[in-house]
Amino acid sequence: MGAKSGLGLRLSFVKRYHLTTFGCQMNAHDSERIKGMLEELGLGEAVSQDEADVLVFNTCTIREKPDQRFAAHLAQAAALKRRDPERVIAVGGCYAEAQRERLFGLYPFVDVAFGPGSIPHLGDWLGAGGAGVRRGAFGTGNERRFSAALRSKRERRFQAWVQVSMGCNSKCAYCIVPAVRGREVSRRPGEIIAEVTRLAEQGVREITLLGQNVNSWGRDLLPDLRTDFGELLRACDAVDRIERIRFTSPHPKDFREPVIAAMAECDAVCEHVHLPLQSGSSRILKRMRRTYDRERYLRLVAKLRAAIPDLAIGTDIIVGFPGETEEDFRETLEVVGEVEYDSAFTFVFSPRAGTEAATMPDQVPDDVKRERIERLIELVQRVASERNAARVGGVEEVLVEGPSRTDGALLRGRTRRNTTVNFAGRARPGELVAVTIDASTSTTLRGTQLAAVAA
Ligand code: SAH
Ligand code: SF4
Ligand code: F3S
Repeated sequence: MGAKSGLGLRLSFVKRYHLTTFGCQMNAHDSERIKGMLEELGLGEAVSQDEADVLVFNTCTIREKPDQRFAAHLAQAAALKRRDPERVIAVGGCYAEAQRERLFGLYPFVDVAFGPGSIPHLGDWLGAGGAGVRRGAFGTGNERRFSAALRSKRERRFQAWVQVSMGCNSKCAYCIVPAVRGREVSRRPGEIIAEVTRLAEQGVREITLLGQNVNSWGRDLLPDLRTDFGELLRACDAVDRIERIRFTSPHPKDFREPVIAAMAECDAVCEHVHLPLQSGSSRILKRMRRTYDRERYLRLVAKLRAAIPDLAIGTDIIVGFPGETEEDFRETLEVVGEVEYDSAFTFVFSPRAGTEAATMPDQVPDDVKRERIERLIELVQRVASERNAARVGGVEEVLVEGPSRTDGALLRGRTRRNTTVNFAGRARPGELVAVTIDASTSTTLRGTQLAAVAA
């Protein structure tokens, strides 16, 4: 024990939290706010669950898999709590919201639960220093508020997420998000730009604008304010020292000319777009209620490519949506081959209770879904490998993120087209460097630093 127990004694006065995050970037960003809030309450961050007094889980429920992963984590937390009943377990995020009626019945050892809309109220339930928890209470706030009002603890000094809207007004038949995140509310442009300006002053060089459908941003500000996402991109581009602007996700149905023009004309807006396809079959897209068809999607891709040379395109695809036939699936493969995606997230359809698709007839058997996703992944990887191989011999501008995850002797960063590059060189995180590309895989590039291109 010795010196260690001394330290333990000192630290034991400071309550500590441990936060585990599941799900999308929206959740990752919410977690930064949760951390900021807990630290404002005087809690310190613990390196492991074992050493934490307050265990927080920020959950996702988009598919069944995250639900299962969370259940496994929670079982561990329950074991820790049996050893030390003073430990507090708090469950937030989308799963908590979806299960709000059942959560305490399913997991009686959970002390506090809260939905994604009520993070600003977390402090009230946990109480100063982690004491005074209202056990068994589902935290609800009267008002949904935006992150800027809260202090947040950012993971990286030079990269930041900026929330532009919350919620979603779409009715995609498979999706639980509207049920757990509510109606779309746009954040006011003045507030967004003020946050971007403050971040730039703090040294941030890359921002990612976040919303479930960034391209419908601003619509609910009418008649008070007439604006659109293109204007927002231009206003962000005008902020000094912001070198890179990304955004996720745009819904293809709302991707209009002004946004394409802003992408083409703003220096800081990266040559990268995440454009969820979901299916290449117009019949399935209709059943999914995506409100675009295959032809309209492909026309949008052509417009984007014409306006933004060297554009990288990423996507999300679901296989095995109810009623999907072999022919429908082949159409998805065709679109993948035609668009030549640089990257794609592929998912097996997962029925979510309460969504329209969960109870549709003609659910696709698991073995068929499995077989289809394997074929899809193989094609996606082949196409992405070819796209990356075409970069070999060229020079890319790379924003340095840190040491390589696979080889400690190398550095890691990302290109404007959002590809990870592992490279030999000398640079600090946050620097922009020029890297000659020597080799590629389906997901990464490898190269050698030329020189610093910007201080
Ligand atoms: N608002 C964003 C992100 C939605 S969730 C958007 O519209 O792009 C991220 C992805 O998860 C979706 O694009 C979809 O491909 C996938 N997804 C959502 N619900 C799903 C379900 N029930 N089963 C399988 N994949 C799903
Ligand atoms: Fe879900 Fe569709 Fe909204 Fe995206 S746009 S969050 S897929 S309902
Ligand atoms: Fe994101 Fe999962 Fe919620 S994908 S919005 S954390 S359900």
